[in-house]
Amino acid sequence: MAQAPNLQDPAFLENPFPFYEMGRQMSPLFIPAAGMWMAFRYSECVGILKDNESWLSGIGPAETADAEPTMLSSNPPRHTRLRGLVNQAFTPRMIEQLEPRLRQIAGELLDEAAKRGECDLVEALAYPLPVIAIAEILGVDPARRQQFKDWSDRIVASLGGGGAGGPAASGEMREYFGELCAERRARPRNDLISGLVQAEMEGDRLSLEELLQMLVLLLVAGNETTTNLIGNAMLEFMAHPTELAKVEADRSLIPSALEEVLRVSSPVQATVRRAARDIDVSGQRIDEGQRVVVWLAAANRDPEQFPDPLTFDVARTPNRHISFGMGIHFCLGAPLARLEAKIAWEELLKRATNFRLVTDAPLPRVPTFIMRGVTSLPVAFDPR
Ligand code: HEM
Repeated sequence: MAQAPNLQDPAFLENPFPFYEMGRQMSPLFIPAAGMWMAFRYSECVGILKDNESWLSGIGPAETADAEPTMLSSNPPRHTRLRGLVNQAFTPRMIEQLEPRLRQIAGELLDEAAKRGECDLVEALAYPLPVIAIAEILGVDPARRQQFKDWSDRIVASLGGGGAGGPAASGEMREYFGELCAERRARPRNDLISGLVQAEMEGDRLSLEELLQMLVLLLVAGNETTTNLIGNAMLEFMAHPTELAKVEADRSLIPSALEEVLRVSSPVQATVRRAARDIDVSGQRIDEGQRVVVWLAAANRDPEQFPDPLTFDVARTPNRHISFGMGIHFCLGAPLARLEAKIAWEELLKRATNFRLVTDAPLPRVPTFIMRGVTSLPVAFDPR
């Protein structure tokens, strides 16, 4: 048994790493106040995520009686079916083709800030880029883009408990996408909505309800996470100027530098599973039905897996972090997130150097221990 720190405390959100280190020594830990277990070691986290027969996603059948679980919170066979259908539309090739358009969007977002020599990086780039990217991928009419961004904001804010606009926004968004799905079914284009309405496996297709739910999941799972990756990269680079200098001298290091950011400052810090049967984790028995917080971010600093885990090394190889999860729920959007962050940093380094934080105040943090990121990041820099 152990006492957990207050996981909502801003000081914890800023530096949860001593807790993870302590956790790894004693893992798995039962936290009585939460009624949950926590797993911290790389081997345990990977073992749990890979074994989707013993460890289930979602909070359980009784609690989801009135809504079908999303792909993220469902298990086989439902998960296999949804993922199989979505995979047909959300392909690496489709993502690759986006590169020139995303580069243009990132450039436009940055040009004005670059002239000023300072900006709030979250507001100027890290936040808008993923929303515009997903609107582009889905095939949202450019005239509706602002509206789409507004729906997305309200839905995401309502999930964090930060607003009551969620249900109304998701109602409006569902209406719009319901029409869009019908239109694309009649006249398919080269966009994700067309791909999703046409996806078919053994005569089976997504229902309209499943399609709409999938769209909301893409927004919720993909936007804030990618924003945080881009922002966390700035914080890590400013904290490790010698490593940033290596990247500035050799831009081909950007992808591996971003993998290192994913490892040390994981945008998704944790996920949850529940035991499908009584099961042992590192010699501890966990009862059927009990839940386990799987600390991806603690596993990512496990010295058993990563030599010198506290060293930020932009050329670290191998770097088998689990920031995108592992197993059947491995992040569907990982190629997109990687591409967006790479383009964001390539375009930023083309225009700016010598980054400095322009505030002494603590940066406002995303208010949940599940995520790591800041909601505002005022920086100054020298234009190139
Ligand atoms: C840096 C950015 C991102 C990070 C760190 C991240 C992280 C994750 C993680 C850890 C999981 C697995 C959760 C679990 O096993 O319980 C996951 C799943 C998922 N992610 Fe991401 N994600 C990112 C970006 C995206 C983007 C851009 C999209 C889509 C546009 C996306 C869509 C999804 C979906 C749909 C799932 C559920 C997959 C399934 O259940 O089969 N993610 N992500």
